[in-house]
Formats: sequence, structure tokens, C-alpha cells
Amino acid sequence: MTLHTLNELIAEGVRGRYILVRSDLNVPLDGSTVTDDGRIKASLPVLSKLTDAGARVLVTAHLGRPKGAPEEKYSLKPAVARLAELADFKVSLAGDTVGGSAKEAAASLQDGEVLVLENVRFDARETSKDDAERGAFADELVALTGGNGAYVDDAFGAVHRKHASVYDVATRLPSYLGDLVHTEVEVLRKLTADTQRPYVVVLGGSKVSDKLAVIDNLLGKADTILVGGGMLFTFLAAAGHKVASSLLEEDQIPVVQDYLKRAADAGTEFVVPTDVVVAEKFAADAAHETVPADAIESSSFGAQGIGLDIGPDSAAAFAERIKGARTVFWNGPMGVFEFEAFSAGTRAIAQALTETDAFTVVGGGDSAAAVRTLGFADDQFGHISTGGGASLEYLEGKELPGLSVLDR
Ligand code: 3PG
Repeated sequence: MTLHTLNELIAEGVRGRYILVRSDLNVPLDGSTVTDDGRIKASLPVLSKLTDAGARVLVTAHLGRPKGAPEEKYSLKPAVARLAELADFKVSLAGDTVGGSAKEAAASLQDGEVLVLENVRFDARETSKDDAERGAFADELVALTGGNGAYVDDAFGAVHRKHASVYDVATRLPSYLGDLVHTEVEVLRKLTADTQRPYVVVLGGSKVSDKLAVIDNLLGKADTILVGGGMLFTFLAAAGHKVASSLLEEDQIPVVQDYLKRAADAGTEFVVPTDVVVAEKFAADAAHETVPADAIESSSFGAQGIGLDIGPDSAAAFAERIKGARTVFWNGPMGVFEFEAFSAGTRAIAQALTETDAFTVVGGGDSAAAVRTLGFADDQFGHISTGGGASLEYLEGKELPGLSVLDR
């Protein structure tokens, strides 16, 4: 694979040129407040490098999943306001993607300034399955760069999407790998080749069905997979236990049973919690108690009980495994960490990651948001990935369209 780096582009010279940069500014919002600005901070270095070198930077980005038309709640305004606060270069936001506002603002952009185009998903062609439709949108994005533009992909979180601003623009402009994507790929490579053992993977999050492909790929590669989050109940059910009203994907039980069987042959051990925090209902102030994982219906809430976190014994056992590891990958919270009463499991895992000597990678939007919400600092971990689906698909061994298109 021959990928050209941002440094090569800078060395070629960017002063006065329009450089189209795909950034990942898909941040969580509470109304118009950015609740985790990790992705914005991670996007800054490439924008600084280009503006320092005198480029006129046009940023494309998405936020959420609008249905192909403008919707105020998906506007990039809050993200761009935060970017402007953090940046030491001038940043503005166009009122549309490739319309009159974008064209006018692009035409008056000066060297060393950044113009962010509105949410690219406000145009239905961005995510179209039809190559010609995506291509037409890409042509309009590229037209904003004049005749001497270039493209930099710095949106690691979106490299698994074959979208116009990720894929098609790269077939139309000289294309380069942004530093963030470069770092992410280097880190994830350490989880797939010559991985230092023991290699412990912590998987949480609500659904097993989201994690099937990655589990499949980890069998035989990871030494241990620690299972938490909502998906743990499907594992308990697969072992024949009742889970009361906890989240359960019944159709996945046979799949999990197959994994458990294959894992033993492949030399990968699944560790499933031995105790669970069960609540009366799904609420921050719900009554709750800790019960053995194989007797969830024995809680005072009987068949109504809902498991919302791993219990303290399981958290301690997981922490031990993490401390004995040399490589740890963590994706998905252990429980409903947004509710204080059910955050202890996730907190214990985060704490263990900060105390182990292992190389630690936190992957996925939810896990990254969890560690920051719980008060941990980014530099307490080896690497906090900006990619949720993208980091999982990388570990699944899938081809990532946004990366392969940069090969030239
Ligand atoms: C993410 O949040 O993982 C990326 O920004 C990609 O978003 P998407 O899943 O909506 O494509």
C-alpha cells in the first residue's frame, strides 16, 4: 500500500491552495453544548499544520445521522464554535454544504484560514449507494477547491464509510493521509500483528449483534475476552441462566454458544461476570442490589429485575486480568455509566487500565465518552481512539474504503 502523508503535501507546498480536509467532528451534544470535545481536539493538529503552512482549508464533516436534508439539531454550529475556541487560526462555518453560502465563503477565504462546510449529510448524495449520485456531490465539493486543490483524510471515525466526502473526493483530487488517521492505524496495527501477550480484550456495550464480527476475529488472537455491558446477559442465557428483564438478544444465543465452544479450541478464554447489579427499573434512582449472575431472578425484583452493571466481584476479577496483561483493548461500557449508581463497573475497568503496565487502547465513542465523563484524563491511557465503528471494523479485518482509496 502506498499512502502519501500530510507531511509530503506540506513539502510540496500548500500556500494559497485550497485543501479539502475530511475531519470527524461527530461529537455528543446536550442541546447546543458539546459534552465530549475529544474528536474536535484530535482534529486540531492537522488543521494547524495546514494553516501554519498557509493553506486555505475547507473542512467537511458530519454530525449524527440526518436524513439527507438540513435539520437544525444536526447543525455543526456547536462543534465549530468549540473548534473556534480551541484554534489559533480563524474558523468559520458555511450556511450550507456546496450551495451559495459555501461558494461565497470559500471564494473569500484567506491563506491560513479554515472554512467548515455544514453537515455533509444534509445532502442526500453524501451517503447514497449510487456511485453517480455520490460522484456528483463529490464533484461539487472538489469544485470549491479551484484547480489546484488536494484532499486530506483525517476522519478516522468515518474511514469505514463509502461516502462522497470520504471516498469519492479522494478519487478526484491528489489525496493524503492525515496525521490522526495515520496514528490510529499505527496503534490498531499493534492489536493485530505481533501483539504483546497476554492480550486482554474488554467488550461491553448493549448488543452482542454489534460485536459478532469482532469477536469472531478475536478468537485465537486474544488470550482473554472479558464480557460486560448489556451483551453479558446473552452470554449468561447461553450458559443456561435466567436473566429476568435484562437486555437479551434471544436470536443470538446459538451464536454465542458457538463462540464459547470455538473459543476453547482456539485458546481464547471468555470471562463472564459472576455477579450483577440488578435494578427495579431503568432509572438513575432505581432501587438496586447485587446478586450472583447465575441467580438474577433471586433479587427482590424477581422476574422484573434489570441488570444494569457488572457486580463488584466481577469488576475486581476483570481488573486483575487487566493488570496481568501486556496489551488491552477496551470497547463498550460495562453498565449504564451515565447513572452514578450503575457506573462502578465501568469506572473499575477504566481505573485498571490506568494502573496496568500494558499498552492500553480505548476504542469507540461510548467508551471514550465514558472515561472522560468519569473524570479520567486522555493521557492516562495508551491511546483513546476517535473511531467507534471504524476501530471495530479494522479489528474485524474488513477493508476500510476511506483508507484503501488513499492507496495510489
Ligand atoms: C462515529 O461516530 O463512529 C463516526 O463519526 C461515524 O459515524 P456514523 O456511524 O454515523 O457513520
